[in-house]
Amino acid sequence: MPRLTLTVNGQAQDLDLPASTLLLDLLREQLGLSGSHRGCDTAQCGACTVLLDGRAVKACNLLALQAQGAAVRTVEGLAPAGGWHPLQQAFSKHHGLQCGFCTPGMLMRACAMAREDVPAEPGPVSVALAGNLCRCTGYEGIVSAVCEGLTVMRGEADHA
Ligand code: FES
Ligand code: FES
Repeated sequence: MPRLTLTVNGQAQDLDLPASTLLLDLLREQLGLSGSHRGCDTAQCGACTVLLDGRAVKACNLLALQAQGAAVRTVEGLAPAGGWHPLQQAFSKHHGLQCGFCTPGMLMRACAMAREDVPAEPGPVSVALAGNLCRCTGYEGIVSAVCEGLTVMRGEADHA
């Protein structure tokens, strides 16, 4: 079996796994990080979104081996120790979730937006969130939360 070396939420991982293993299955089944959700399994809903070297990717649509040597960050690695990430605070404040199934993917997609220089305004944020679906249809709160979270992140770079 191929050997995979990467970091996940800052922790080094070195493991053998079948070449066909999806990144989402590595995270959920082998590493016990169940915060990345499986919604569609066809790269449409975004519930499985994680960061791969800072870029938002859909973990259901990548082989784990495609993360060879990379730094993966999941929703479990978002918050600083003992606190909340600015995006989490903003989602709470703006009621940016209902059932919460889409929330981990929304948070990770939003986290990547800070690097992409997406303006913290409803229009550009909505466009950037086009690949993340919320079946509870709470987009207004989500977009407001992302706008505020991006603003805070850019003012507090050490939290981003
Ligand atoms: S589960 Fe990956 S995009 Fe839907
Ligand atoms: S809060 Fe339920 S799917 Fe988005």
